[in-house]
Amino acid sequence: MPVIQNNPPQTHLILGMQWGDEGKGKIVDVLGETCQVVARFQGGANAGHTVKFNHQQYILHLLPSGILRPHIQCIIGNGVVIDPISLLEEIETIEACGIEVISRLFISENAHLILPYHKMIDQAVEEAKAGSKIGTTGRGIGPAYSDKTNRTGIRVGDLIHAKDWKLLIRERVAEKNEILEKFYYQHPLDPDVIIDQLVVFLNKVGDCIADTTALLHRAIHSGQKVLLEGAQGTLLDIDFGTYPYVTSSNTTVGGVCTGLGLGPKQIHQITGILKAYTTRVGNGPFPTELDNALGEHIRQHGGEFGATTGRPRRCGWFDAAIARFSVMVNDIDSIALTKMDVLDTLDEIKICTGYTYHGETLPVFPTNCHILEHIEPQYITMKGWKTNIASITRYQDLPGEAQAYVEKIEELVGAPIQIVSVGPGRDQSITRCGNS
Ligand code: GDP
Ligand code: IMO
Ligand code: MG
Repeated sequence: MPVIQNNPPQTHLILGMQWGDEGKGKIVDVLGETCQVVARFQGGANAGHTVKFNHQQYILHLLPSGILRPHIQCIIGNGVVIDPISLLEEIETIEACGIEVISRLFISENAHLILPYHKMIDQAVEEAKAGSKIGTTGRGIGPAYSDKTNRTGIRVGDLIHAKDWKLLIRERVAEKNEILEKFYYQHPLDPDVIIDQLVVFLNKVGDCIADTTALLHRAIHSGQKVLLEGAQGTLLDIDFGTYPYVTSSNTTVGGVCTGLGLGPKQIHQITGILKAYTTRVGNGPFPTELDNALGEHIRQHGGEFGATTGRPRRCGWFDAAIARFSVMVNDIDSIALTKMDVLDTLDEIKICTGYTYHGETLPVFPTNCHILEHIEPQYITMKGWKTNIASITRYQDLPGEAQAYVEKIEELVGAPIQIVSVGPGRDQSITRCGNS
């Protein structure tokens, strides 16, 4: 499939096509070189985006990955849920590396706050579930988005505009303490501690709080190039994922519009990030999972341990049914295929081409968990390349078997693979041009 390399588009969306951890952070960092703005539009500190350069590794949770390039302005949009304590820690960590943050960070007034009771409820709800735990990150994501939808949330802008935000906090904490004590047998929270934390938060980032929608539109109208950084992945989407084993936001393309205030026609290019195999953290169906020594081999070789919680990631073969579904619901233009190098040592590599269900071929990936329990993945086997590809910089220099693997995925998925990533570093990305 020919791949045409265009000039960088003005707005470019980067999102995960699987269950997260596809390497979004790395690709945002690479593409950030030619952009002026990077904006996050959903999720919270459940995300862990890893960027490596100059022998240093950074893990971003709430800050857009663009923060590591000093020329970039970073937006945390209204669709993000912000844990002030986590954000302050992250800013301090980045500043300690000698990178200036505050003058380049813009936080939406309309973003909701994650407060300690959200985290406590998240963890208590999980704890109380017997066999059906979702395996959340425990970062308070679900309870914060529930409050948002329930119209009981507190937004960043309330800390500036409300007549008495401290009273608002006291009222909410009193309500949540009832729930924490009566239903989850937890100690009540002291509202004054939370208020003190929010005062520290305001002192540090008060000047960053802005109308980020207006700011983003100004940037676009003045011709600046903008990267839109997704968190999690398509199958963790609250609507299109493997519900209920999902996160609580729209990780797919629509999340950009509601999470930043952009119209769909203002998203000029959509790049999906696909890992060359599949991983998942937390519970839920995983048709191509390798719950065996081979899965462990991939986990060790790929360093597949959660960037946020450190949990071992479940590993399995590449699943083209998932990737096709992701191309469909996100209208993906091009793909970055990451972590090819992790498969370097394998004799044979399987690809799931689709599923059968009660003996019939399924035309589309079924997100319904009850169906997923009974599907039968269909595989083809590709020959491994058995060569270290980590320092290869041109597509035509990849071993024939590796090129065949890339091209087979491209054929099965139906979207061009524009970038092949062969290592975590900035310089370990192969950009394909034309037919090569
Ligand atoms: P994200 O959440 O999508 O940003 O992905 P994570 O950062 O959670 O996980 C991806 C991991 O793979 C990180 O440790 C990256 O440094 C690493 N990584 C990204 N691309 C590649 C690659 O092509 N090869 C290898 N070996 N590691 C990669
Ligand atoms: P990045 O952006 C992988 C998973 C959790 C759990 C489910 C719900 O690094 O790709 P939540 O805390 O969101 O309520 O947990 O979603 N999850 C992720 N898995 N990468 C992520 O982010 C994730 N963020 C959440 O493990 O299964
Ligand atoms: Mg991650």
